[in-house]
Amino acid sequence: MSHADQITELPSGFSAVAYTENSPVAVTSNGKGMLGIQFHPEVVHTPHGVEIINNFLYEICSMGELWTSGSFVSDSIERIREQVGNGKVICALSGGVDSAVAATLVHQAVGDQLTCIFVNNGLMRREEPERVRNTFEKFLSVNLVFSESTERFLHSLKGVTDPETKRKIIGNEFINVFDEEADKLGQVDFLTQGTLYPDVIESKSADDSVSATIKTHHNVGGLPEHMKLELVEPLRYLFKDEVRNVGLELGLPEEMVYRQPFPGPGLAIRIMGEVNRQNLDTLRAADWIVMDEIKANNLYRELWQTFAVLTGSRSVGVTGDFRTYGNVIAIRAVKSDDAMTADWARLPYDVLANISNRISNEVPDVNRVVFDITSKPPGTIEWE
Ligand code: XMP
Repeated sequence: MSHADQITELPSGFSAVAYTENSPVAVTSNGKGMLGIQFHPEVVHTPHGVEIINNFLYEICSMGELWTSGSFVSDSIERIREQVGNGKVICALSGGVDSAVAATLVHQAVGDQLTCIFVNNGLMRREEPERVRNTFEKFLSVNLVFSESTERFLHSLKGVTDPETKRKIIGNEFINVFDEEADKLGQVDFLTQGTLYPDVIESKSADDSVSATIKTHHNVGGLPEHMKLELVEPLRYLFKDEVRNVGLELGLPEEMVYRQPFPGPGLAIRIMGEVNRQNLDTLRAADWIVMDEIKANNLYRELWQTFAVLTGSRSVGVTGDFRTYGNVIAIRAVKSDDAMTADWARLPYDVLANISNRISNEVPDVNRVVFDITSKPPGTIEWE
């Protein structure tokens, strides 16, 4: 509730039915089904907020529960068929839930008129590219172009250490590969994106052209001029939790539906310094252990993001009788609702101990593990 605002006079026929320390009128009613509230029931921190909204819709307004994940799926399928007709659609899969759900909806609507493109930039977590391939090719029988481009990305990233330059290179390279792959498909008319309502609000652009509305998180400056594609954005009025429900409704694996956010530039912005095969191998092995322990201890879903960082520092250690000079891995675990702010997660000491033991024992060339206890602000979630 906004502390500065107070209602000092009520309209006739209305009375205060709830108050807070700051405001004599937190809820007002005329006793005939008209109510007013002066706080935000929709924000996460309001106790019983969702209950208040439910009560208003279903009890006071007697609204039927017409809008369900199931009805959303059937309505979307119809809308997509109408928009696409006999046209050809492409979709870039990122491995995340948004593009997966958007692609699956479009696939249910127009089947083989859709081709998905997955660009393996070599910067993803262990097993993730394979999971995308298994889910889409084998499980959903979607036409999938799996573009193995690791070599190309690593070549462009050679010697680069500046975080923003890394992002730019990865974004540009993605566009080049995507453009080349799409070109091989001949005439394409539509581009499907997993744009969500928060992206729509954020981009603030009323312009419908692809370059203006391309999802900012993909770190993509926009598709080239010659790719004139109409957008199909079946999720543009949904929030994340609704997208996950639709994903479950569509039968997508829980692992994909509840995947923690993962940045477009991937592990590249969790390696301080040059991104090369050796650094990627080290980070991937450490990251795998973090994930494994977090999942084994049932912490995955309550944490916004959990990952390892290759800090670029080296420290002295001792293994057996030998002195070592190895990599320092940092563990990052945060709780957040929207990534705008985040609190470092108070992971149980036992979990931290297991993670640390396993990383220093199992990952070659790592002899020290530290835990990042910085919240956002002042830190960001990622290290770069
Ligand atoms: P920061 O580090 O800014 O991250 O606190 C907030 C959220 O955004 C993700 N992130 C990115 N996602 N491309 C992306 O697609 C990026 O360049 C990028 N940088 C940060 C980050 O993982 C977190 O969820």
